[in-house]
Formats: sequence, C-alpha cells, structure tokens
Amino acid sequence: MLDVVVLVSGGGTNLQAIIDAVESGGITNTRIAGVISNNKNAYALERAKKHGIESRCVSPKDFTSREEFNERFQEAVEEWKPDLIVLAGFLVVIPPSMIERYRNRIINIHPSLIPAFCGTGFYGLKVHEAALKRGVKVVGATVHFVDEGTDTGPIILQKAVEVEPQDTPEILQRRVMEQAEWKILPEAIDLIANGRVSVSGGRAVVSR
Ligand code: GAR
Repeated sequence: MLDVVVLVSGGGTNLQAIIDAVESGGITNTRIAGVISNNKNAYALERAKKHGIESRCVSPKDFTSREEFNERFQEAVEEWKPDLIVLAGFLVVIPPSMIERYRNRIINIHPSLIPAFCGTGFYGLKVHEAALKRGVKVVGATVHFVDEGTDTGPIILQKAVEVEPQDTPEILQRRVMEQAEWKILPEAIDLIANGRVSVSGGRAVVSR
C-alpha cells in the first residue's frame, strides 16, 4: 500500500481528482495519509475534511525564518511516513533536504507541456497567459518527479490539449485541468503504486 501525502495551496481540484480516483478504484494500492496546505484558507483543506482525510496547515507566515519553516514543514510531512509526496498545486519551494531524502518520491503537476512555459515565475494562470500571448495552438500538462531545479525533474506523463480561438487564460486553464491534469495526475499515482515507474539515467521509464 502506497501512503501518499498531498501538498496543496489553493482550490484543490487536483486533490479532488486524486480522492475521487482512490474512492472509485481508478487509483489502486494507495491511501491518502494526509494533506498539508501552506495557506489556511485553501479550499483544498475543506475537500480533505469532507472525505475524512487528516489535514493541517503549515504556513511560512507563522515562522520568523525560511529555515524554521522548512524544518517544521518537513517534520509535518514525515509524521505521515509517506511513500510518495504529491504536489497538487503547491506553490512553495520544497526544501533541498526534503528533495534529497525523497529522491524520485516527490511528484508535481505542472499546467504546460514541459519544457514549454515552465520554470521560475510560471505557475497557475500565468502559464496560460504566456501560452495565449505566444499564440501556441497546443498546450497541456506534465507530471514529473521533483528535483533541485524548477520543473526540471524526470517527466512521467504528459497530455496535450488544443487551444481554441476564443480562449481566455481562465477558459484555457479549465480545459487543461479537465482534459489533462485531472487525468494524468491520478494515473501517475496509480502507475507508481503498482511499480510501473522507474528512473534510469535521469529519465522516467513508464510501463502503462
Ligand atoms: C493547477 O493548474 C496546477 O497545475 C497548478 O496550479 C493549479 C492548482 O489548481 N500548478 C502549478 O502551476 C505549479 N507550478 P488546484 O488547486 O485546483 O489543483
């Protein structure tokens, strides 16, 4: 059984997709051990509560230094002894010591086809604004392992989504979530839980 801790910052629709997939059997061999938010007002915390999943908030605002926050944050994650940590719209930088300890056991969902529209400053709606500004015709989402860089770790799954002529950043964001994120994030967790993902030579090897 894969024990998963999910990290969130906002609405938590990706968390909801994971919860639904665990409950419906779309994700097997997996238990959501807990949810941590850096933001006490995140609706994601309500979603966890509604499904009887333990949750807590650890906010950088409650600490005088980033070091202190990092220490407390890592402790909070480790209390649940996770096999896998899932960043589902989590907008805080993961402490380097945690990346080291959980090498190839932390995954992130990013709302673009990496290496396009990723890296520092590309998160949430900003990604879709940049894609529309550039005029690309295909966008999408990526699930990848987290390493020391920003959106640079081994890519596990990607799914493409068409841009439509009348798209606004909000409409495009929603389509990318519906058609890509809410599908490939649960699928990646199921693949990992069933031993179908490994990393070799810095690349993820996936047998679907
Ligand atoms: C999602 O679109 C996710 O891909 C993005 O934030 C949103 C969170 O939505 N993550 C990033 O941009 C990370 N760089 P949610 O809270 O409804 O799941």
